[in-house]
Amino acid sequence: MDFTFWQYQFRFIMLGDSTVGKSSLMKRFTEDVFMESVNQTVGVDFYVHFLEVEPGVRVKLQFWDTAGQERFRSVTRSYYHNSVGGLLVFDMSNRDSFDHVKEWYDEVCDRVEPQRIQFILVGQKSDLDAQGGRAVTQEEAEKLAEKLGVSYMEVSAKTGHNVKEVFELLTQRVYQGIVSGDIVLREGWDGIKCAAPQTLKPQNTSLTKTSTKTKTKKCCN
Ligand code: GTP
Ligand code: MG
Repeated sequence: MDFTFWQYQFRFIMLGDSTVGKSSLMKRFTEDVFMESVNQTVGVDFYVHFLEVEPGVRVKLQFWDTAGQERFRSVTRSYYHNSVGGLLVFDMSNRDSFDHVKEWYDEVCDRVEPQRIQFILVGQKSDLDAQGGRAVTQEEAEKLAEKLGVSYMEVSAKTGHNVKEVFELLTQRVYQGIVSGDIVLREGWDGIKCAAPQTLKPQNTSLTKTSTKTKTKKCCN
């Protein structure tokens, strides 16, 4: 599949304490690799990946992989506003990282209001559960997710468990938000971009139809 041409671009942000495995999730999703030793992120790293949300509708995903360390907060804050979605990540073997999730959530929401960001709560390092390393139960994580009005998923960058699924879910949520009109494209906001008509490259009749319909219904004017 030729992913050079895309209909939408979504900007997503990765948030959570240092060492919860945000960069490892990015590497597993975009390159299908895992490393036991990863450099801590300095400021923000940038990743790109493409997904098809329905036949013929391709989305370019841009990720801001932020540093969890407090000293980079002034840098990472500048990326909140132009994000349409994000993962709130904690390490299920690290209780503190779970206790800080609400702070991460408030930190972002307070700064982007009245804009809203689609979040998914992510319990990372699920592979450690089998080794007795779990410090946060699924029930309490689900309770927090419910309180925040988001979904919860347990994943492992090490084994790949649920990694593709969590990014697909976030992408679908945003796409469905556009389709339903709950998420609106606004001038001067880069959370979502829509391809200019000349960059849409129809590959077959059904794609042509989908693209036209998509543009008329919900794309940039
Ligand atoms: P900052 O960049 O400092 O914010 O950290 P980060 O959240 O990006 O964490 P990073 O991806 O650098 O991972 C930290 C450590 O956790 C590394 O040693 C990884 O190998 C390890 N790690 C990441 N994901 C997993 C996982 O799914 N399972 C296990 N067991 N270890 C993991
Ligand atoms: Mg990192």
